[in-house]
Amino acid sequence: MKKILRQFWESMTRPRKWKFTNSLRNTFQFNNQILLNTSLIKCFIVLSFSIYKTLGILYTTALIGQNVMKYSTLDLLLCPACQGELTLDAAYPHGVLETGKLTCFACHKIIPVKHGIPRFIKEDELTGLNKPFAHMYDWFSWIYSAFSKIGFLFLGTTDSKARQEVLSRLEPNGGKVLEVSIGPGVNLPFLLSSPQVGEVYGLDISIGQLNRCNSLIRRKGWSVDLFLANGEELPFKDDSFDAVFHIGGINFFTNQQKAIDEMIRVAKPGSKLIICDENESGAQWYEKFLPGFKSAFNGQREEIIAPVNLVPPTMIELKLENIWNGFMYCIEFRKPFTTT
Ligand SMILES: C[S@@+](CC[C@H](N)C(=O)[O-])C[C@H]1O[C@@H](n2cnc3c(N)ncnc32)[C@H](O)[C@@H]1O
Ligand SMILES: [Zn+2]
Repeated sequence: MKKILRQFWESMTRPRKWKFTNSLRNTFQFNNQILLNTSLIKCFIVLSFSIYKTLGILYTTALIGQNVMKYSTLDLLLCPACQGELTLDAAYPHGVLETGKLTCFACHKIIPVKHGIPRFIKEDELTGLNKPFAHMYDWFSWIYSAFSKIGFLFLGTTDSKARQEVLSRLEPNGGKVLEVSIGPGVNLPFLLSSPQVGEVYGLDISIGQLNRCNSLIRRKGWSVDLFLANGEELPFKDDSFDAVFHIGGINFFTNQQKAIDEMIRVAKPGSKLIICDENESGAQWYEKFLPGFKSAFNGQREEIIAPVNLVPPTMIELKLENIWNGFMYCIEFRKPFTTT
């Protein structure tokens, strides 16, 4: 009886044991397979991204070699430190400038021109929040365009709709447009497709952003002049531009008042100025998703308030609106013909 019972027990347990270990082995192999597949996919993504970026760098480097600034642009420039006249020390073989230097007649400051971009600032001279932000945008420039496109979908709009919502407010009437903080040139396709826009000029505090912008400009064959400069000290003569706009950086400029006064100074009388940046809810969103954003403030960020009170009372047609489904504020005004 005992024997029969043992045989019965063994007959019952053996196949189960076999099934169990088999299924364990299968599960293990299956998990291994998943792990292997996931690692392969990750490797593939990293490798493709690296190849894409390396090709991008090579392409950009080749293109940057051809970057130039129009000779006529020199007429617009002045020394941002003392507003003195600049003299150029460089050859202009075809009416365009690639490399050289500008020297201030009054304070003797030297401004190098590299790849057609006059460099009015040095990163180590920046103060306050300008310094960490210039640094953050240098690396962020690699993914900024994609980040911004995806960001608009999260906001329930699209890149094209959102940018047109701002740019359609400008009234350049075929004249010169200045973008303060041009970034990698995300507004350029929309600006340059407008018959209202003549020449476009852009500046930024981040050389990384400008390099991306430069390669886009060369790739597309556009004629846009770029400057490495601080929005608080614009390197342009008074009354130079038919429209001036800024999107996305002024909240964290070291001195917002100076930046607004400078945009007004370089705008022609009668021209429109637009200043937009994120509302408090937008900044909280960045804090969650943008590495380096929160740490730039050492945990002491002030609540964002649209700097509409910093627009001088002499400006006319002043409007403040929320745009991009409440994510941004937009300040719009006109520089009067006379300020008396
Ligand atoms: C959010 S991005 C906006 C880029 C672009 N205007 C757009 O519409 O997407 C902010 C830009 O402001 C620039 N920026 C930050 N501080 C600046 C300053 N003091 N002067 C000029 N540009 C500045 C950054 O380098 C960055 O390219
Ligand atoms: Zn000077």
